[in-house]
Amino acid sequence: MSHSNIYSLRVLTCVLCLFVQRTAFGLPAVFNPHSPQAESIRSLFLLVLAVAAVIFVLVAGAATAFMFRYRHRAGDPDTEPPQIYGSQPIELAWTLGPFLTVLVLALVVVRSVVQARPEAPHDNDLGIRVVGHQWWWEVEYPEQGFTTANEVVLPVSNVDAPEPTHVQLESADVIHSFWVPRLNGKTDLIPGRVNSMWLEPKRAKIYHGQCAEFCGTQHAHMLLTVKAVSTDEFAQWVANQQEPAVEDPAVAEGRQRFMSLACADCHRIRGTAANGEFAPDLTHLMSRGTIVAGLLENSRDNLVAWVSNPQAIKTGSRMPDMRLEHEDVEKIVDFLETLK
Ligand code: CUA
Repeated sequence: MSHSNIYSLRVLTCVLCLFVQRTAFGLPAVFNPHSPQAESIRSLFLLVLAVAAVIFVLVAGAATAFMFRYRHRAGDPDTEPPQIYGSQPIELAWTLGPFLTVLVLALVVVRSVVQARPEAPHDNDLGIRVVGHQWWWEVEYPEQGFTTANEVVLPVSNVDAPEPTHVQLESADVIHSFWVPRLNGKTDLIPGRVNSMWLEPKRAKIYHGQCAEFCGTQHAHMLLTVKAVSTDEFAQWVANQQEPAVEDPAVAEGRQRFMSLACADCHRIRGTAANGEFAPDLTHLMSRGTIVAGLLENSRDNLVAWVSNPQAIKTGSRMPDMRLEHEDVEKIVDFLETLK
């Protein structure tokens, strides 16, 4: 295989990866929307694809047909064919044709943008705030009074009585982009600016997403999930998140180490002295399925590995290698595991 072939193959694989987006079943995520916004984006994409396909077939077909029909044959005279200038019908056709095509596509794009556009939320809409950090997502539920990280939990939106969630998007450092392909298009999180979007999942399930704007070395490890649950389950989850952290006397040693070994300077654990603002809120750490912005499953082994040396797992992460003694790590993880 030549170099250029290998290169094309790589480009093709990358493009395919973009479409597949970690969906486990059959259809690539962008073709398998679960919200009105993502549906409107898919319809637009399919329409543009169809129009482009028709144009491609017409142009490539005509070019191929002409190559055979008008090729040079033995016995043809060696003179140029008659040259035609200024044919009004032809010029009209190739001006109006593209103009009308572009006009129709532009109108349809505007319609899709309006459909997906964030209107001002109503009083009873659930509103959340997502802040992009290098390299994790802060997820705040301002009205409910708590903050979590990397895993957005929302009530599923009934088709008959829609319950959309309004998401306010901000950044703490550089430009990030919030992208959950099955629920909506990408929206950037820009420092000094507030953007917004709607999330309106139609089915109770977990949707995967990721940061879609290069934001530094660990951009690829800035995953997020949106978990759509029933209204009852959501109310239960909120009630649990609103509670301050569990205080278990059995892990007092671990808690004391967490508070004294600088962890508390960056992390917040509501109901304790830990009040940091630079790192994920750990009040209900164990209610999350993953740690390190979706990179690792939330298990004891992974917590131990992460606390021991974050830099070995996520180079460049803002959490430094504290060079803790193994015993300190074990005690701290004992404490973290009580934060249900
Ligand atoms: Cu955040 Cu890429």
